[in-house]
Amino acid sequence: MVGYAQGFKRWLRSLLLLSLLTATGTQAGGEVDLIIDTDPGADDVVALLFALASAEQLHVRALTTVAGNVRLDKTTRNARLAREWAGRDEVPVYAGAPGPLLRTPIYAENIHGKEGISGVTVHEPEAPLAQGSAINYLIDTLRAAKPHSITLALLGPQTNLALALIQAPDITQGIKEVVVMGGAHFNGGNITPVAEFNLFADPQAAEVVLGSGVKLTYLPLDVTHKVLTSDARLEKIASLGNNAGKVVGDILNDYVKADMEHYGLPGGPVHDATVIAYLLKPELFSGRKVNMLIDSREGPTFGQTIVDWHDGLKREKNVFWVENGDAQGFFDLLTERLARLK
Ligand code: BDR
Ligand code: CA
Repeated sequence: MVGYAQGFKRWLRSLLLLSLLTATGTQAGGEVDLIIDTDPGADDVVALLFALASAEQLHVRALTTVAGNVRLDKTTRNARLAREWAGRDEVPVYAGAPGPLLRTPIYAENIHGKEGISGVTVHEPEAPLAQGSAINYLIDTLRAAKPHSITLALLGPQTNLALALIQAPDITQGIKEVVVMGGAHFNGGNITPVAEFNLFADPQAAEVVLGSGVKLTYLPLDVTHKVLTSDARLEKIASLGNNAGKVVGDILNDYVKADMEHYGLPGGPVHDATVIAYLLKPELFSGRKVNMLIDSREGPTFGQTIVDWHDGLKREKNVFWVENGDAQGFFDLLTERLARLK
């Protein structure tokens, strides 16, 4: 029998643990309260299926869409398609900004195809779009949220969050962390020699988010170009025996070709899906806190992320920069999660 003093100690310890968890905004069971902002995009679709298959860890409140890889109407249709393929029609999809803050819009149809996803046939999904704009949704939700409780995964240009922050700077109160796919340092760029697509597509938006002081994590090309597909990895996904595995297999088999050829890589990156893996299993990744700034001046370095990796400038560290990842661990996790879907 447990003595009174021992029982009291146990009760006190659980109380302390509970108050610690509440204070840091971490929810019981390690659940992440999440909004995914996205511009699907082949790798975005994979990221969405990955996240929506992980309901016990990721409480996906909504998908918010932005123009990026293709125009907004197509990125929004593709987000609704991903939701349908995941069998998660209860998750609302809000459409956001049709173009960047200041620069002329650019798209990546050369990589993602005219529809934004290639390798599969697209159709108009059944479940409708949510009423209202993604920007208003972000403002209302983050204002009403418990302090520092909501994580945002930004998988495209950062326009929606930037617009929300410009209109309502107080919404940082609801943000726990912003996890971005974007930027490049060691790897070099993928749209110019120094710039990565999401940052190049709207560097001013990324500057607004950086300047807001929210907790920021970046998964740049430095890590995504190390987490590469292989024939065996894709074969495992494609042969899962469910629709999700077939869809992801078909999309990735087509998507990885361009990067493999262009960079001479043995496999292709699945950029945006690394953000979801980071949220689910951060121990698969490593990086360090750095000072980072974004170049938004017209010229050859437009959209570059400048990272003080060795802390030469002794400036405030404003970003956690992920630099390496366990590729096999990533694909094991992705495959295991996709197997849960229909
Ligand atoms: C990023 O750019 C987009 O084309 C992809 O979806 C990803 O978010 C990679 O540079
Ligand atoms: Ca994307």
